[in-house]
Amino acid sequence: MTMSLSASLREPLRRADEILARPRPDKARLEAILAAVLARIDASLDLFTDAFPKPSSEGGVYAPMDNTEWTNGFWTGMLWLAFEASGEARYRRAAERQVESFRDRIEREVNVDHHDLGFLYSLSCVSAWKLTGNESGREAALAAARRLMTRYLPAAGIIQAWGDLSDPEQAGRMIIDCNLNLPLLYWASEETGDPSFREAAHTHIEAAARHIVRPDASTFHTFYMDPKSGAPLRGSTHQGFSDDSCWARGQAWGISGFPLVHRYKADPDLIALAARLASYFLNRLPDDLVCCWDLIFTDAPHERDSSAAAIAACGLLELARALPLTDPDRETYEAAALAMVETLGDHYLLPLGKPGTGVLAHGVYHMPNRVGVDEACIWGDYFFLEALVRLTRVWEPYW
Ligand code: GLY
Repeated sequence: MTMSLSASLREPLRRADEILARPRPDKARLEAILAAVLARIDASLDLFTDAFPKPSSEGGVYAPMDNTEWTNGFWTGMLWLAFEASGEARYRRAAERQVESFRDRIEREVNVDHHDLGFLYSLSCVSAWKLTGNESGREAALAAARRLMTRYLPAAGIIQAWGDLSDPEQAGRMIIDCNLNLPLLYWASEETGDPSFREAAHTHIEAAARHIVRPDASTFHTFYMDPKSGAPLRGSTHQGFSDDSCWARGQAWGISGFPLVHRYKADPDLIALAARLASYFLNRLPDDLVCCWDLIFTDAPHERDSSAAAIAACGLLELARALPLTDPDRETYEAAALAMVETLGDHYLLPLGKPGTGVLAHGVYHMPNRVGVDEACIWGDYFFLEALVRLTRVWEPYW
């Protein structure tokens, strides 16, 4: 990648000694936290087989909804993770029913005009295909990848995140979250032999690296390109504190997304860049290593976003896996991920409750709109379980 950014400075880790000195949770402790998450899935399994949890909870409890949101794949992904972690067929049966719902959704084109088709279909349907050879899942995921390609803007070389492509408000807007939607395109190229999916993903990730990441390794949440000329225009936020602050979950999408794309696009610049984002993130955390919702804030009274911490933990593990063993910060990234998972397990688990009760307390969905503030967020629950599976099993990503 011709990207000067990767050559820029990686901040020295301010708390490396403290992070490395923490006792690491042993396998038994991680297994106990994993069992606690499975118990919470069990309590909601009947409720969320033919329905899905809403994106965020109310009072810690998710209400059921139809398969119409950008977030519905996270619960199905949790079912697949639970199936892999336990071998229990009841999780697979529930996930398989949901695969049919995802097939129906893409066939009937129910709220699929946005870029989040990767979140939806990698976790529900690519997983089904990879784990069990589910043909319905494969077909649905390929249809979703084709749909995602309709949002590709060739002049700008990006996938537009939101809105009708003729909507001037959203024209040419890409967002950091899209890093996690690109693996669906790479997978589709591998499955079909059609390079166009992969080529679109390549140009998008290069544009994200060049324009969404700022010189100091913080990130804009969103960035506008001119869809006709391809010229870069301006960064702005949607869910962060301000256009020039760094939304914590956006940074976490970067920390996790660049290394996941590196699995398909073996470019060391992606890993160098993710390391710079990771160091920026780790240098702006409260004492317990669970970030506030925007990294402009580093402590109470500002709300934490446990969901961003869970995403970052997965990203740090993915990053540590890809970094050379000689990298000076690799071990700290891994230790930080472990410490975050342990803290979330020790201090952020919602008590086991009635059906619909979430897993992780203290997440934030959309602070500027005051939606899902200090609540469970379904993607936080997914990534927390993914981190636990990464730490306790040999696991191949659904991404
Ligand atoms: N991808 C939307 C969010 O993280 O809230």
